[in-house]
Amino acid sequence: MNKDFIHKTLCHSCEQSNFAEILNLGEMPLANSFLEEKDLDEPDKKFPLVVYFCKDCGLVQLLDVVNPEILFSNYDYLTSASKPLVEHFTKMGGDLSGKFIKSKNDLFIEIGGNDAVLLNAIKNKCRVLNIEPAKNVAEISRQKGIETINEFFNKELAEKIVKKYGNAKVVVANNVMAHIADIKSVFGGIRVLIGKDGVFVFEVHRVSDLIEEGNFDQIYHEHLFYYSLFALNNLIRQFGLDIFDVEPIHMHGQSMRVFVGKDKPISKSVTEFLEKEKDIGLDKLDTFLNFSEKVEKRKIELTNLLDNLKKQNKRIVGYGAPAKGNTLLNYFQIDNKILDFLTDTTPLKQGLYTPGTRIPIFHPDKLKEMKPDYVLLLAWNYADAILEKEKELREQGVKFIIPAPFVRVV
Ligand code: TYD
Repeated sequence: MNKDFIHKTLCHSCEQSNFAEILNLGEMPLANSFLEEKDLDEPDKKFPLVVYFCKDCGLVQLLDVVNPEILFSNYDYLTSASKPLVEHFTKMGGDLSGKFIKSKNDLFIEIGGNDAVLLNAIKNKCRVLNIEPAKNVAEISRQKGIETINEFFNKELAEKIVKKYGNAKVVVANNVMAHIADIKSVFGGIRVLIGKDGVFVFEVHRVSDLIEEGNFDQIYHEHLFYYSLFALNNLIRQFGLDIFDVEPIHMHGQSMRVFVGKDKPISKSVTEFLEKEKDIGLDKLDTFLNFSEKVEKRKIELTNLLDNLKKQNKRIVGYGAPAKGNTLLNYFQIDNKILDFLTDTTPLKQGLYTPGTRIPIFHPDKLKEMKPDYVLLLAWNYADAILEKEKELREQGVKFIIPAPFVRVV
């Protein structure tokens, strides 16, 4: 792609053009494009952020696709910065290798393995390979002793990998299947990698999280797809592959772990999951039509609360600088006049500023130094772990505002 972004006219999955717009967030900066101090006088680069429902195959998607080189060649997000994620993926590595890896010579591949938290946990059990497109992150993965290919994954790369390393027993891709525009080349490549009897296992955010919980802040340009199992099934079957198992996962709001293979016995959890989705109506446009009203309601609740606190001269800061925080801050227009700063555990983000809202990001120690009156929990998906971690601060009277799945103060 030579341009900064393209507007697609056909569905990424079924290639029809039977769309309905379900949410329009207008022009927004890229959620992970944190700014250096020297860039603060430059205007933000913005791109349209509009969500569509495909009336033919049920896939909820963006049609404005930002060039992946801009989004992912350099990346500030590190899995290792979030302790709950490290625990989750370490366990996932152990579970999957226990179930599917039979010999030290078996190959376990992760697509978008970031700083290799999962692969590092199993590297002594089998051969491991990380395919990570961000140059800076791939380097961190290599420093951990993990063989890492610094390229975007597609079918062509899959063919090269099979020639060099053979077929994989397990291919994993966590929180990346919503990110890759050429999703058909990805599934084509996965089919090549797993050969006759390998498995592909991935975790991905669920569209029901938007509909049932109103968590619209998961929407940003990197997330091109908001999947139901129904829409995924329609996509995966085009490649002669089946979803043979599925589990709900409570990470990033509602997610799911999906197991894909060829000619495997299908677990009854797949049929049950699909039936539940039908009950909620995830295959029908009607279900998505009041989504934007829910978002507006959340906006009024949260901005009224913050405005009232500001009128009382309360000092408010933000906790975490996740990508989703930038959707929320920009769409709700919560900027550096409302939040004095954010803190984040990711070293790469400290010293930078949020795109659009230009709030400085500091090391978490700053919170202890300053003791604000209120903390807006932007990394709300880790609310339980963070509230527990910050017990001392809360005992000293610092209140946490949790913006999702409904606005509350604790
Ligand atoms: P996350 O919700 O994983 O992702 P996304 O960017 O996809 O929305 O990001 C959480 C961010 O919050 C990440 O930058 C690390 C940070 N964080 C903290 O600062 N403190 C914490 O205790 C945790 C768990 C995360």
